[in-house]
Formats: sequence, structure tokens, C-alpha cells
Amino acid sequence: MSSTTLKCPICAHSLQNDQKNLSCVNRHSFDQAKQGYFNLLMSNKKRSKSPGDNIEMVLARQTFLNTGIYQPISEALNETCSQWITEHASTLEDPIRILDLGCGEGYYTERLYNALHPQSIELIGLDISKDAVRYAAKRNKQVTWLVASGAEIPVMPRSQDLIVCLFTRLMPEGIAPALSRQGTLITVTTGKQHLIEMREILYPSIKDQVLDPQVPLASHFKLDQQQAFQAKHTLTSSQQIQDLLAMTPHQWRAPAVGREKLLSLDSLTITIDVNISCFSLKEDQISPESL
Ligand SMILES: C[S@@+](CC[C@H](N)C(=O)[O-])C[C@H]1O[C@@H](n2cnc3c(N)ncnc32)[C@H](O)[C@@H]1O
Repeated sequence: MSSTTLKCPICAHSLQNDQKNLSCVNRHSFDQAKQGYFNLLMSNKKRSKSPGDNIEMVLARQTFLNTGIYQPISEALNETCSQWITEHASTLEDPIRILDLGCGEGYYTERLYNALHPQSIELIGLDISKDAVRYAAKRNKQVTWLVASGAEIPVMPRSQDLIVCLFTRLMPEGIAPALSRQGTLITVTTGKQHLIEMREILYPSIKDQVLDPQVPLASHFKLDQQQAFQAKHTLTSSQQIQDLLAMTPHQWRAPAVGREKLLSLDSLTITIDVNISCFSLKEDQISPESL
């Protein structure tokens, strides 16, 4: 039996890990799925039968990400995390606790683990989509994979040193209690030019799709630093174009005529334009009463 930073989603007591089972003092018990993840999402917290990305999106994302086209984003994120750990080394306890919120099929989570290991880290990958977590769990057995919601993260209060969140809805009420007082939230969000070439083909006119992460996070977090990352890449097959489309909301948002035009191409140069932002908790969130 070993203690964990995981929290029982029913009574909020800490969960102990015994082989392939998590349980709390109130005997709420959660078995590990055979693929290696734990499902801590209560059915009364689900808004639909299968929340989050569906299997088609998961498989398209995995095929696309495995090509390595987005690897520079992963490298930039890993570098930001490494730098943060180096800068905070004197105040960090062993192990360093990191959570990837909305981890999807685990591409970035696995690469983050490999980049930071063999430093002593405990990494959790969490997503509301069971299909996504099933695939993520196949990537790495050292990461703790959870089906859960970012709106109510099942970890003990103030237990995580770093929370990373890539291309996922930002849920400050869920993230703030999970983060340690000196912890940092690192977001990766799309910039103005991201996939501009694809959007120009899909839509008769382009809407500005920039999400400033400060807007949804302002109630709980302050921005410490932000860095833009840009690159170009040429997709060289219609399959790559199809996978890229299928892993984005444009798959169901874009008009049929635009999608047909895009899918008739067998090459496409794309702009990758993302912002990596570091946030810390606002003063009023750090007080014990804020939990
Ligand atoms: C655009 S994908 C990004 C996945 C991964 N971070 C990546 O970049 O490859 C957004 C992910 O957020 C997940 N998601 C949506 N709502 C969520 C919630 N409330 N809690 C946790 N994950 C959620 C989806 O299932 C999906 O896997």
C-alpha cells in the first residue's frame, strides 16, 4: 500500500494505491483498467455518455502527432518546464509533481516524462475522454493516467508543482486548488497565424481565432511570462491533411465545401503559431481560506 496525491472523487479523502487498486478510508475503491488507467470520473459528473474527444479524433490526433510535425511544440514546452524546475529547484520537494490537464492520447505527456526523467518526478496525465486515456496509457507505464474532469481535478489540494494544459479549455476553478502555492500553470494556446493556410481554404472569410489565456484565467491567475513559438511545415500527403483536419474542431465547424476543397489537396504548407504562457496563483488564491 502506498500513499498518493490522488483524491477520492466521492469523499475527497486521499487515495492509497495497492497494486492495481485505489481506495480511501471510507472504502471507496477504484480498480485499474487493464490498459493501465484509473477512471475517477463519476457518472453524475458527466454531461454526456462519452464526454471529451471521440475515438475518431483520438486516432487522427495520434497518427498526426506521431509524424513528429508538432514535435517543436513539445520541445518548447519541455524546455519551459525544465527551466522552471531549475529556477525553483531549491524550494521543490522530491518528487516534483506535474499534471498534464487534457492530455489527450498522451503524445506531449510521454515526451515530457522522457525529457524530465531521470529527475524524480510524478507525472499525471488526465483527460475526460476515456478513449483518449486508453490510448495514452499504452504510451508509458510510469505516468499515472486518469479519466477525470479538469473542472474537479481529483488530486489533494496544493499538491501539484506544475500543471500543463495544451490546446484544452482552461478551467481556473478546477486548476487553482490543485496547484501548490509557488506552483505554475503552463498553457499552450494557438496564436493568430496558427494553421492560417488551412483556415483560408476551409472558410469563405477568416475569423480571428486567437485565445488570450489571460481572459479565462484572470479570476484566479496572473501572467508571469509568455513566449511565442512559430514554425512552418509542409504536409506531404492527403492523409496528413485529413488527420490534421480531423483532430481540430474545424472538422465539424467548417462548411462542407471548404472541407472538400481541403481534402482534395495532397500537399499543404502550414504555419504553426502557438503561445506558451506561465501563470501563478493570485495573492487572494494562496490564502488557506481560498480552498
Ligand atoms: C484539443 S485536445 C488536446 C489534447 C492534448 N493536450 C494535445 O494537445 O494533443 C483537448 C482535450 O481536452 C479534453 N477535454 C475536454 N474537456 C475536458 C475536461 N472538462 N476535463 C479534462 N479534459 C477535457 C478532450 O477530451 C481532449 O482530449
